Amino acid sequence: CGIVGYVGPQSALDVVVAGLRRLEYRGYDSAGVAVLADGGMAAAKKSGKLVNLEKELVDRPLPSGSTGIGHTRWATHGGPTDANAHPHLDNAGRVAVVHNGIIENFAELRAELAGRGHGLESETDTEVVAHLLAEEFSGCADLAESMRLVCRRLEGAFTLVAVHADEPDVVVGARRNSPLVVGVGDGEAFLASDVAAFIEHTRAAVELGQDQVVELRRDGVTVTGFDGRPAEVRSYHVDWDVSAAEKGGYDYFMLKEIAEQPKAVADTLLGRIDASGSLSLDEVRIPARVLKEVDKVVVVACGTAFHAGMIAKYAIEHWTRIPCEVELASEFRYRDPILDARTLVVAISQSGETMDTLMALRHARDQGARVLAICNTNGSTIPRESDAVLYTHAGPEVAVASTKAFLTQLVACYLVALYLAQVRGTKWADEIRAVVRDLARIPGEVERVLETMEPVRELARSLAAKDTVLFLGRHVGYPVALEGALKLKELAYMHAEGFAAGELKHGPIALIEEDLPVVVVVPSPRGRSVLYDKIVSNIQEIRARGARTIVIAEEGDEAVVPYADHLIRVPVTPTLLQPLVATVPLQVFACELATARGNEVDQPRNLAKSVTVE
Ligand code: G6P
Repeated sequence: CGIVGYVGPQSALDVVVAGLRRLEYRGYDSAGVAVLADGGMAAAKKSGKLVNLEKELVDRPLPSGSTGIGHTRWATHGGPTDANAHPHLDNAGRVAVVHNGIIENFAELRAELAGRGHGLESETDTEVVAHLLAEEFSGCADLAESMRLVCRRLEGAFTLVAVHADEPDVVVGARRNSPLVVGVGDGEAFLASDVAAFIEHTRAAVELGQDQVVELRRDGVTVTGFDGRPAEVRSYHVDWDVSAAEKGGYDYFMLKEIAEQPKAVADTLLGRIDASGSLSLDEVRIPARVLKEVDKVVVVACGTAFHAGMIAKYAIEHWTRIPCEVELASEFRYRDPILDARTLVVAISQSGETMDTLMALRHARDQGARVLAICNTNGSTIPRESDAVLYTHAGPEVAVASTKAFLTQLVACYLVALYLAQVRGTKWADEIRAVVRDLARIPGEVERVLETMEPVRELARSLAAKDTVLFLGRHVGYPVALEGALKLKELAYMHAEGFAAGELKHGPIALIEEDLPVVVVVPSPRGRSVLYDKIVSNIQEIRARGARTIVIAEEGDEAVVPYADHLIRVPVTPTLLQPLVATVPLQVFACELATARGNEVDQPRNLAKSVTVE
């Protein structure tokens, strides 16, 4: 969910709604606002996307005030209805609360409130907080203190922001697990799940830590722990500007983000390779002594980041000879994994807020493992709780389906693998130096791929009426196939599945029928020729059964041409790096198919970009 709060001289409603627009990627099941005006509280909320709320505000304008909060929701407790939309008010309509996360003991608190005569209207856990805050406020007449008292009683993960009509110049926020950042302006202050919400007003931000409460006033912010003790805060300057959070002439954020990939890759490499071709990853603050002792690497991640992790395994094992496991973060801790001080856990997350990944890393650290985060969001929870972080420099990614963040995650994974190899010394030293040189060429190669995408778009449009598309790959082409299928599910809502090409004959080949589109990621014919020969056979097998083959193959690979109904060329790269170029056409393919099917590209149904519940 996305949360915004504001206090200052501007119209709070305008600031909050504009902020929500920038946070809509975090959830779009419903949206709502509350403003303090004329000694009272006014609120509006609507199910569906933010435009529904905006229409409502035109039909039934709210009075203008200088303090307000807003919310855009990804539904957890209760369906996406008007009643379940945030903010939630107490019975007297004096307190309004918005919330991100899940309050686990809400049923118990709800029963307790009902026993004291409170009438609760929605099915949400959030409404309980509004009522509890109203009770506490009637005792102490201090909203920040009321928030602290209430938070001490809540279990689960939550970020809360509240206002009270009796304290008209105050917004209060509380944070446990889910993100919340403060923006400090001149005579005004902001609260939001993401700096994008206030970047057009101020670039001075303050990070909130775990279990902290912040009180926002026009002239400053006060941060304490849930226990009331003053907290140390870290201020930072947001180094990207407002244009990074805008579409800049593209129809969709996703198209802009696909186009930004060459720069994102270059920025992620910048300053990390010295003139001699050695890696200097000073940020990876885990001492070389510890890295030399590592006897197992475990990668944890979700969604697209998990596919980056699968590719990392090939690179880490090949270059370092350290055994590497990759696991979905949501599965990891529940199987009692074997970890100790010699295990290096790599947690990959664009947002740095995915709850499944956060819980996996906490579990790993509890077992004594070191955690290295690969993350795109400065100051987010996952890097804060890790032993070290390697930031990807993709810039803000707004479209729900990840593109440029994925490519930069891959780059970061390669850097980690190469760095581990460098620190430990390996017989692959020459190969590693060559790979480092090849990595530096990737931004230009991705640029070239992007210049040749028109036939891919045309092909996508021609397949708009299909129900199913399959994706095949071997070796690192297998995770690429999975990522291609995930993109198509997310965006085109089609049945799309990725398979290891060798596994096809063990079952999935039964799915092949006349004219079924099958995308095949073909590795370089140089390098591992066994791999190449095997996949060419696989293409023949499916073609013999009627499949329509869409082949992604390296420039100059002529042997594959007779078997390709459609051929997509990618530049020559070393086998392990091929995902950096082979994924790009699949992103374009999915985006174009979604458009052709009339789907929302940036905000696919049911999804959210940053999922802060488990
Ligand atoms: C959500 C998004 C996916 C994303 C996954 C992991 O499910 O819809 O696109 O890959 O979260 O996100 P993270 O921020 O941890 O990389």
